[in-house]
Amino acid sequence: MVKAVVAGASGGIGQPLSLLLKLCPLVDELALYDVVNTPGVAADLSHISSNAVSIPISLGFGTDDWKIAGYLPKDDGAKAAFKGADIIVIPAGIPRKPGMTRDDLFNINAGIVKGLIEIAAEVAPTAFILVISNPVNSTVPISAEVLKSKGVFNPQRLFGVTTLDIVRAETFVSEISGKAPTELTVPVIGGHSGETIVPLFSKVTPSVSIPSDKYDALVNRVQFGGDEVVKAKDGAGSATLSMAFAGFRFAEKLLKAIKGEKGLVEPTYVYLPGVPGGKEVAEVVGCDFFSVPVELGPNGAEKATNPLAGITEKEKELLAACTKGLKGNIEKGVTFAHNPP
Ligand code: NAI
Repeated sequence: MVKAVVAGASGGIGQPLSLLLKLCPLVDELALYDVVNTPGVAADLSHISSNAVSIPISLGFGTDDWKIAGYLPKDDGAKAAFKGADIIVIPAGIPRKPGMTRDDLFNINAGIVKGLIEIAAEVAPTAFILVISNPVNSTVPISAEVLKSKGVFNPQRLFGVTTLDIVRAETFVSEISGKAPTELTVPVIGGHSGETIVPLFSKVTPSVSIPSDKYDALVNRVQFGGDEVVKAKDGAGSATLSMAFAGFRFAEKLLKAIKGEKGLVEPTYVYLPGVPGGKEVAEVVGCDFFSVPVELGPNGAEKATNPLAGITEKEKELLAACTKGLKGNIEKGVTFAHNPP
């Protein structure tokens, strides 16, 4: 039995992500937590005829046979939602508005993520935790520090979800190369904001040739693609549907890997020294938290791979800019975790 939790389930990402998890045959029980509206979202989803009969506990219909439930902060709802979870996905927090960077979200989202991880540490200490809330570059280090302070940090089970950068890269490379996006594997490494996002087009499989006059614009589009959505939404938030797709893609891969499927690899932002094979990569890139292609398995992050062998001079330049920015983001998260305002 797999219990999945979405924290921030009533939001722009949380609702479609919860829908996708409700449709996923690998999930047996779904708990939705948010500070607002989860009873409604849970009731709505519970009418979908996927998996077993779904009865929202929040509506008071029995307690033994429910599969989906919505929780609010009252009555220790977060603890009830998280208790015994196998996988917790966190898209809780505020999104960007035009003109904002992901780092501008830090002041509010850092505290939200910290609070949620404290609860996870207490009632679901072995859960796989997938952090979507921005700035991911800092919220994952915060999560690691909180888990460490509670004595339950397992770096193989904490993931910053950077899949949207890969999804975007696949789409944009497909537009240029004419190959179907589903055929392409495009490694995107580093962090999840602006210049910390490093697409490695020299490592795309099957290989593609990017015309040199399109290279810089393509890199820029992968790094700042989120801004296209923020601008088009004109104050109504950032990417939600593509993010729900990306978050689900990562969660589904992880669930398949936990159940024993082999050969599943996806870049994700992890604490490298705690992941097999990651220490060497951390030494090369100079950051402990970094997204690289990670092989997933029953223990979560089974093996971090070094994607840097043979990268181009341009990619080395991108990497240098990434590391410079990322170090500060990581430091900011660690400092916050130890000295919250
Ligand atoms: P939203 O505002 O639509 O939804 C956020 C939800 O979080 C709301 O329902 C809100 O009530 C809830 N929330 C706030 N405080 C909470 C708490 N303490 N506990 C539980 N729930 C709480 O925002 P949206 O668009 O869904 O984005 C959510 C986050 O995801 C943002 O931080 C955004 O920047 C980030 N994001 C991350 C991406 C990535 O690639 N990792 C891509 C796109 C967005």
